[in-house]
Amino acid sequence: MQTDLRGRDLITTQEWTKEEIETLLDVAFQLKRERALGIPHPLLRDKTLAMLFFYSSTRTRSSFEAGMAQLGGHAAFIESRTTQIAHGDTAREIGEILGRYFDGIAIRNVDWGIGNKYIRAVAEASRVPVLNMQCDIYHPFQILADLMTIIEKKGDPRGKTITVSWAYAASYQKPLSVPQSLILLMTRFGMNVRLVHPPEFNLMPDIVEQARENARKSGGAFEIMDDFDAGFKGADIVYPKSWGSWLTTEDPEESARIAKKYTDWIADERRLALAKEDVIYMHCLPADRGIEVTNEVIDGPHSVVFDEAENRLHVQKAAMALVMR
Ligand code: CP
Repeated sequence: MQTDLRGRDLITTQEWTKEEIETLLDVAFQLKRERALGIPHPLLRDKTLAMLFFYSSTRTRSSFEAGMAQLGGHAAFIESRTTQIAHGDTAREIGEILGRYFDGIAIRNVDWGIGNKYIRAVAEASRVPVLNMQCDIYHPFQILADLMTIIEKKGDPRGKTITVSWAYAASYQKPLSVPQSLILLMTRFGMNVRLVHPPEFNLMPDIVEQARENARKSGGAFEIMDDFDAGFKGADIVYPKSWGSWLTTEDPEESARIAKKYTDWIADERRLALAKEDVIYMHCLPADRGIEVTNEVIDGPHSVVFDEAENRLHVQKAAMALVMR
């Protein structure tokens, strides 16, 4: 267990050691247990968190805000378009100024090629920890909640097969941050990670290389496949979700045209039956129902999407309590 995490940023789990991540999960389980028992845990009394959003959110905003209140502090919701950022406030100014008002700064900016750089520029200027609520490259709190859910449902993750697969969606060109963060974290925990996608939906090559190296070091496995059905076969965990063809084209219309070639990539009951009998179905949400996944699957007995969403609250509270105390 690592007890000195005060002041640390959490921008990607790759920058935290495995032991530090295990500490965070340990605290998350403790806070979840205490909440179930009605035990108050005001670990951040009088502390404040700035939540700066450049992009919409249901779960992230709600769980950070509820989490700060449960820890005895306060979270301020700040939407970029109601700030002076469009009129010239720089990332350095945001880091310097919000860092003097608040005890932590959480940011969501998923703009392709911009989001991660922006968060890092704020962190560089900030005297308080910066938390990544999702950028163009990473979504660390989502996948920490995912790992917590896998441990709850499956026990020791080592040797378990998780299929991180692309699926068709019509709504919008979604960021790469969830699949990239998944392959990075699950390979560190000794899992057999299958990344499945059509050729136009590649992830960033350096992220894929890091996932391969993580698997080598942990004794896990990492393979890339292009057959949706084969990806389901014998899996313990399936995580089919859509993402954009960002490395093929940044044009949303062109991306939508490419994606339309693969409208049959939907998570349905036939495919789920190819996996292990006790497979769990995961999705970070929001999902395109009837397009990305059938209602029978997402609302069915194998789905753990609500526990997964709940665990956002617990891992975020753990992180805030550890880095903002
Ligand atoms: N999974 C997730 O990050 O949800 P929101 O976009 O609603 O925050």
